[in-house]
Amino acid sequence: MDHRLASYLAEKRGVVDAAIDKLVPPEGSEPDILHRAIRYSLFAGGKRIRPILALMGSEIVGGRYEVAMPVAVAIECIHTYSLIHDDLPAMDNDDLRRGKPTSHKVFGEAVAILAGDALLNLAFEIMTSESTLRTCRHDRLLKATGCLSKASGSFGLIAGQVVDMLSEGKRVDRRQIDFIVKRKTARLIGASLQCGAIMGGASEAEINCLALFGEKLGVAFQIRDDILDHEGNSSELGKAVGKDEQRGKATYPSIMGIENSKTMMNEEIVSAIRLLDEFDDRAIFLRLIASYIGERSS
Ligand code: IPE
Ligand code: IPE
Ligand code: MG
Ligand code: MG
Ligand code: MG
Repeated sequence: MDHRLASYLAEKRGVVDAAIDKLVPPEGSEPDILHRAIRYSLFAGGKRIRPILALMGSEIVGGRYEVAMPVAVAIECIHTYSLIHDDLPAMDNDDLRRGKPTSHKVFGEAVAILAGDALLNLAFEIMTSESTLRTCRHDRLLKATGCLSKASGSFGLIAGQVVDMLSEGKRVDRRQIDFIVKRKTARLIGASLQCGAIMGGASEAEINCLALFGEKLGVAFQIRDDILDHEGNSSELGKAVGKDEQRGKATYPSIMGIENSKTMMNEEIVSAIRLLDEFDDRAIFLRLIASYIGERSS
């Protein structure tokens, strides 16, 4: 990874982690097992790409990153809930996540399901909490809340997850995979930039441009994830590899092979980066992140 990007991400990861720690109920809150499960998954070692993109969405339009922090934390809560549920026996049935046993392995299925439910609610509790309402503009919060709930809902992430599950072991075409990937992954990554930009006071044109950039980045992100399932390393990824083929998952590599998937991913990244032209030098780290996503090994 580019060394400027590595130190940028490390710094931003630090502030995101501190904000999550502050905004999420402390361990020991009743019921203890639920709050332990929530913190177990939140602090298992995620890359924090989505919350960092939210902070960047604010900064690139001239806002302070702090105004996007509640939204950034909310997005990581939603992402983490989606991973807990994605790993359940009824879905991908995975034992390892972020380098640790999955939530249901540690806390049992019932608590894992409920910890996921609680994280989804927590996202919107954080965005509408008294302290958030005191420090952020209400019109922007309302708009960001709408954007985030839509990206996560039955036309967004959940739609993608449903069709992903229903497509297991079936013959699928390019159009169906486009549908799945756009919804299960790209919409939330797009919403991360979009919500950050909203909180930072972006114009409509800037918001739309960053949302589109984020969606393209999200498609590339999922293609890279699917490629890594074939050629990645479990200890580096912190999750199992080879599962997609085993479960007959509908992925780009499954219908077009690894090499064509890499080409498609790179095209997506190039066209995403092109959208940043109007931001000139302010977009330097977004461009670096886009390139990193195509090369990442974890
Ligand atoms: C994993 O997301 C799920 C996908 C959408 C591919 P990440 O790769 O961002 O997972 P963490 O947050 O770093 O664990
Ligand atoms: C994950 O897709 C998408 C969501 C969790 C919304 P995957 O099922 O490919 O993610 P991993 O590989 O388990 O992280
Ligand atoms: Mg899945
Ligand atoms: Mg999975
Ligand atoms: Mg995967």
